[in-house]
Amino acid sequence: MSAFDAAIRLVYLAVASCFVLGLHLMNSPVTARRGNLLSAGAMAVAVAATVVVLAEAGVVRPWAWGALAAGTALGAGVGLALARRVLMTAMPQLVSLFNAVGGGAAALIGVHDFTRHGASLPVVLDVVIGGVTFSGSLVASGKLQGLVPGRPIVFPGARVLTVALPLAMAALSVLLLTGGGGGPGGGGGVALLAGLAAASLAFGVTMVTPIGGADMPVVISLLNAFTGTAVAMAGFALGNTVLITAGALVGASGAILTKLMADAMNRSLGNIIAGGFGTGDEAAGGSAAQGRARSLSADDAAIQLAYAAKVVVVPGYGLAAAQAQHQLHDLAELLERRGVDVFYAVHPVAGRMPGHMNVLLAEAGVPYDRLADMEDANAAMPQTDVALVVGANDVVNPAARRPGSAVSGMPIIDADRARSVIVVKRSMGHGYAGIDNELYTAPNTGMYFADAKKALSDITAAVKTLVG
Ligand code: TAP
Repeated sequence: MSAFDAAIRLVYLAVASCFVLGLHLMNSPVTARRGNLLSAGAMAVAVAATVVVLAEAGVVRPWAWGALAAGTALGAGVGLALARRVLMTAMPQLVSLFNAVGGGAAALIGVHDFTRHGASLPVVLDVVIGGVTFSGSLVASGKLQGLVPGRPIVFPGARVLTVALPLAMAALSVLLLTGGGGGPGGGGGVALLAGLAAASLAFGVTMVTPIGGADMPVVISLLNAFTGTAVAMAGFALGNTVLITAGALVGASGAILTKLMADAMNRSLGNIIAGGFGTGDEAAGGSAAQGRARSLSADDAAIQLAYAAKVVVVPGYGLAAAQAQHQLHDLAELLERRGVDVFYAVHPVAGRMPGHMNVLLAEAGVPYDRLADMEDANAAMPQTDVALVVGANDVVNPAARRPGSAVSGMPIIDADRARSVIVVKRSMGHGYAGIDNELYTAPNTGMYFADAKKALSDITAAVKTLVG
């Protein structure tokens, strides 16, 4: 091995180590930003090293350097502009678009490698996984953006297609790998590959359309794992170790996140993919239980909170929908100045995307050491005077502790075990799971019916007026 090759390999090894370290740093909100920067910096070094390898090999013609520079500038420019402008709430659809780009690029690398060296396992997997990821991610992104209806869409013959397409993909892959069609030079090989790409793209669409909009975060995480796997296959096709490492890390972490999310919702991945579980977009509406709930005024809530020693805030999707994170932080700061110990209990699937609540609370400036995970929060609940539940529903529903309901078995934040509970939401309307919440009618619960932003501002004003 020449000194140049050895140096490049060392750079790739250092880059791969930085990716692993970067992922590790993302374990905690305190270090996540550093982890992101480290991983992004390492990726920039990997790209630069690859450019040096190409220059040294002298295989790129002058016009191709121009094309590479233009492509890099365009891709980086569009990516940067989108990432800077995107609203926090639109992050899932942006991630999904990035997944589509990654999957599409990997599939194209597969096609290119086929034209040069013929069919191989990495090429076939690249086209299959990359194709499914590309079209599936576009549909997922469209659903979240409201361009495609968010409800589960099942068209006639969809179930048959969902079974027939993978069978066709498997048959075409076997034919390609066993030399059917006569290899890259033969027109038959090209036709087989085109068929495989078309079937994979169609399968991406039929896989995602029947899934409800609110299940999209899990699907996006799954497609993210697919992207990583497709990129790793592209690394095999190109013989690039850093691409293999980066792809494998994305594939593995995406798969772990998918499993964690499915577990925290107490649903199997198969059940999510089969679709049909609430869209999570139900309009606010009353239910029979409304009459039995005890309604509070802003003054009642303010007095309870101001004279408490310990308050736990349980945020949920409604906090994000109302964009009330700043009003929540203002109220918490006011209480803290009065000597109240305020902490936040964050459920792993509160909201509609992984880390949804953490992102919102961080944006409002809530210190990280005030966030408690579910286990710690539940341990402290019996010594807590008030649980302030803001726009959370399923993640605090005690029905989860008994069998026989849509949320049975789902781990919950035990808000009902606090001495008293204040729930802020607009009505007795259901959450994502579409069922009544027993917490709302419990004897120690008071309901404050209003939009979260208005409710929290009114309670803050009442604390100031009533207790100074
Ligand atoms: P949900 O159970 O969906 O309840 C949210 C509540 O917020 C609703 O009941 C709604 O009641 C209230 N709300 C909506 N807009 C509001 C506003 N402007 N002001 C005040 N309240 C408002 O939310 P959750 O407790 O956060 O649970 C999350 C659910 O989503 C779980 O079932 C979870 O499995 C699912 N899910 C999560 C994820 C991830 S990764 N986080 C992914 C997919 C699915 P009103 O209409 O009465 O106001």
